[in-house]
Amino acid sequence: MEQLLQQIEEYKQEIASIIPNGADSLEAYRIKFLGTKGIVKNLFGEMKNVPNDKKKEFGQILNEFKQFAETKYEEWKQSSAGSTQSTENKVDLTLPGDVLPLGTRHPISLVRNEIVHIFGRLGFSVAEGPEIEDDWHNFTALNLPENHPARDMQDTFYINQNPDWLLRTHTSSVQARVLEKQKPPIRIICPGRVYRNETISARAHCFFHQTEGLYVDENVSFADLKQTLYFFVQEMFGKDVRVRFRPSYFPFTEPSAEMDINCRICGGAGCNVCKHTGWVEILGSGMVHPKMLENFGIDSNKYTGFAFGMGIERICQLKYRINDLRLYSQNDVRFLKQFTGAV
Ligand code: DAH
Repeated sequence: MEQLLQQIEEYKQEIASIIPNGADSLEAYRIKFLGTKGIVKNLFGEMKNVPNDKKKEFGQILNEFKQFAETKYEEWKQSSAGSTQSTENKVDLTLPGDVLPLGTRHPISLVRNEIVHIFGRLGFSVAEGPEIEDDWHNFTALNLPENHPARDMQDTFYINQNPDWLLRTHTSSVQARVLEKQKPPIRIICPGRVYRNETISARAHCFFHQTEGLYVDENVSFADLKQTLYFFVQEMFGKDVRVRFRPSYFPFTEPSAEMDINCRICGGAGCNVCKHTGWVEILGSGMVHPKMLENFGIDSNKYTGFAFGMGIERICQLKYRINDLRLYSQNDVRFLKQFTGAV
């Protein structure tokens, strides 16, 4: 009996120390311990040699050992190390491959890229500026001195540590940065993110995207402005697009105009997006104010220019019929994965 117990202990240790390794060794294990001539069977055969008063105790120990050996076998079988599929020569090459989901570009990126591409064909290059701006580039240089009422058109986030710093409220700040470095001719567009202290809703967000445009050279006229922007919307929305210019006011342009296009959502029949007018405003524009040119030492008698600024979300809304601004920043893949195929 002593000897048998000792042997069972050794078998247990042997089993515990086995590291599963493939289907063949699993089968060898089964035959050795659990087979019809295996160790477990043999031990049960020893039962007849055990004295009667010890039979019950020995039987229990033996059953426990049997269970231990069987559990090991089952675990091993379940694990990939024992499964037949993991062995190299048993891989089923006829199974279909795993489909890896492909990412898609964000609609804002798509539209920004398209804007950059269209203006690129007209000779505009991309300029960038910082999102944390100073008062000068965002306001003062753009003919918006302190206490100018037009500053209230845009609710500004200021940086606590330094009241001269703010999150840019428009990409017009990049105009100022370009004008202080470059001499005419200048032909740039400036796509980027802007920030305003607005309550988030379907129609407003505290951050969104704009593209600024600036063209300064000799003999640039309002006709150039109109033709450039007309070309742009035709490329973006199709040849059938109609435009109208309305007089407006911006401190950095004179004269100023806002441009509308006929509503791409309802085709003019009237809807929420065009507020039942059939027209949607897509950008502000105008001839660069002479005072702005002079701010940067550019001779306003020799040079003229036009500028414009448009919201990318708005263009995106009209192109892809997106009716809630919050969708752009919620990262919902059901929304994002619809924008496939485009670059
Ligand atoms: N900065 C203006 C805005 O955020 C848009 C704008 C209007 C930009 C007229 C311009 C412009 O360059 O000429 O509402």
